[in-house]
Amino acid sequence: MKNNVGKEKSIRAAVVGATGYTGAELIRILMDHPFVELTCITSRQHAGMAYSKVYPAFEGVVDLVCEEMDPKAVCKKADVVFTALPHKLPMSLVPGFLENGLKVVDLSADFRFENPEEYQAHYQPHTAPHLLNEAVYGLTEIYREKIAKARLVGNPGCYPTCSLLPLIPFVKEGLIKPNSIVIDAKSGVSGAGRSLSLGSLFCEAHEGFRPYKATTHRHNPEIEQILSREAARPVVVTFVPHLLPMSRGMLATTYASLKDPISREDAEALLKNFYANCPFVRIFSGDYLPLTRNVRGTNFVDIALRVDRRANRLILVSAIDNLVKGASGQAVQNMNVMMNLPETAGLDRAPQGI
Ligand SMILES: NC(=O)c1ccc[n+]([C@@H]2O[C@H](COP(=O)([O-])OP(=O)(O)OC[C@H]3O[C@@H](n4cnc5c(N)ncnc54)[C@H](OP(=O)(O)O)[C@@H]3O)[C@@H](O)[C@H]2O)c1
Repeated sequence: MKNNVGKEKSIRAAVVGATGYTGAELIRILMDHPFVELTCITSRQHAGMAYSKVYPAFEGVVDLVCEEMDPKAVCKKADVVFTALPHKLPMSLVPGFLENGLKVVDLSADFRFENPEEYQAHYQPHTAPHLLNEAVYGLTEIYREKIAKARLVGNPGCYPTCSLLPLIPFVKEGLIKPNSIVIDAKSGVSGAGRSLSLGSLFCEAHEGFRPYKATTHRHNPEIEQILSREAARPVVVTFVPHLLPMSRGMLATTYASLKDPISREDAEALLKNFYANCPFVRIFSGDYLPLTRNVRGTNFVDIALRVDRRANRLILVSAIDNLVKGASGQAVQNMNVMMNLPETAGLDRAPQGI
């Protein structure tokens, strides 16, 4: 098996829900991680099956076999576990993993909300509410210091990652009118996961483009929770997601009214200073505006901005790969920080370019 064992690989990792899209992306990244040995991957439907039979792309690269999800076996085999499951399932497993000394990065929404009532208003009753206070929201660039001390990270949603990173510096500095924010965001179809759904079928999704869940998407309260925390006052946003006829990639165009006029150069300087020590945040000045293809397969978030002087409005454009910075890449970035590894370990491959 390519590169999965070696003397530097002192951290043992498990992926629970390994056959979904974020699971497959975790496996792709962890296989090449210089400090991590992938020791356990689980699947309900494919238990006993070679991973390379589920994803033939991994033939000759991954020789792991999917296992039944047995919490005891996971605890024996791993130091860190990634739960890449639909929400509601992780909250039943995570307390046991933590009691057995594992560190956990959960990719679902189960540990993203601080307040159980907020979670319950948008999802379902929480069966481990005592952990919500302890869990750290895994937007690495913003909460790095807390993540470094955490046992449990609630990895952010893809839309929140894409829209929060450009907005937070301006909200923190009080430069925009908080309730004027409009986020117009687009995602590739893999954002909905691998399980069958009508909207994800080829004939439904391709050669067309539409919004969905306008004002009712569950990422709306997640975005508001973090913006309110960073602004130190309640922030309400208008958020409209759209489905793009492509497999992966996400782009947000965010509009906000400026409190006072600011030049484009000053606004770019603010972003560049704020993210000066953040290797995955690329701020573009000049004519270029982010293109989803240029972050495909990478953990980058590409950001550019414009100031509409006539309307006194700030326009932020940000692009990520929803499966990488929007999910599995950021999860590995968080694990790196939790395990005191270089933040870019396993995530520093060159982009494809074309
Ligand atoms: N896709 C994205 O872009 C993205 C981005 C950020 C966050 N997330 C979050 O990450 C988590 C995983 O997303 P995903 O896109 O990888 O989902 P997915 O493709 O649907 O995969 C879900 C995984 O969970 C397993 N599973 C175990 N028990 C299950 C059950 N009762 N019902 C359904 N699946 C079950 C599935 O395989 P078996 O049935 O074989 O066990 C599969 O491996 C979700 O919470 C999602 O919201 C996704």
